[in-house]
Amino acid sequence: MAVPIAKALGLRVIVTGNARAKERFLAMGVDRYLDYKTENYWDALSEVDHVIDTLGPAEFDHELSVLKKGGRLVSLRTGPNKAFALRHQMGGVKKLLFTLAGSKYDNAARKQGKEYRFLFVRSNGEQLKEITRIVEEQQIRPAIDPHVFSLAQANEALQLVAKGPLNGKVILQL
Ligand SMILES: NC(=O)c1ccc[n+]([C@@H]2O[C@H](COP(=O)([O-])OP(=O)(O)OC[C@H]3O[C@@H](n4cnc5c(N)ncnc54)[C@H](OP(=O)(O)O)[C@@H]3O)[C@@H](O)[C@H]2O)c1
Repeated sequence: MAVPIAKALGLRVIVTGNARAKERFLAMGVDRYLDYKTENYWDALSEVDHVIDTLGPAEFDHELSVLKKGGRLVSLRTGPNKAFALRHQMGGVKKLLFTLAGSKYDNAARKQGKEYRFLFVRSNGEQLKEITRIVEEQQIRPAIDPHVFSLAQANEALQLVAKGPLNGKVILQL
């Protein structure tokens, strides 16, 4: 979903992922697609404004390296930091823990004049309104895996989610 939303905002979008997903992403208007098994994005890219990370700490240095100065790395997985705690108005022990846990990433980013952020999805009416507008205007449809399960097959559906390979969201038909 990040891809069509980013395209709707007028951004140039580069994705790194598996070979299976390449055509699907190019059809969404992705400007460049790198197959992570054959091409290292950190060799191919530089001066990027924003990175969205779904892979976690092992990729942090590579992701930071492709950003331009002033660029921002937003992670769904690497871990919370002080800015995350402040944004969510956390105090006391939580703020201290997140500050300590995230300091390694904050410091590394700051040294290069870049910013590290952690994001945890939550409902936000104002943002959802804006996203709904983009989804309707651009007629964005989520990727859906071709397997459709009945409710009685819920365990099989969960197995597919756990083990893959997945080509989108898994549907239970009621
Ligand atoms: N913070 C939050 O609010 C939030 C929200 C949603 C998700 N998440 C987290 O975000 C992570 C990703 O979610 P997801 O649903 O996208 O995970 P996923 O379903 O596990 O998908 C991972 C995808 O990344 C590909 N991949 C693996 N290694 C790669 C690499 N080095 N470079 C590029 N692509 C690679 C995989 O390809 P293969 O098929 O080749 O393995 C697979 O297609 C999960 O850990 C999830 O918990 C966090």
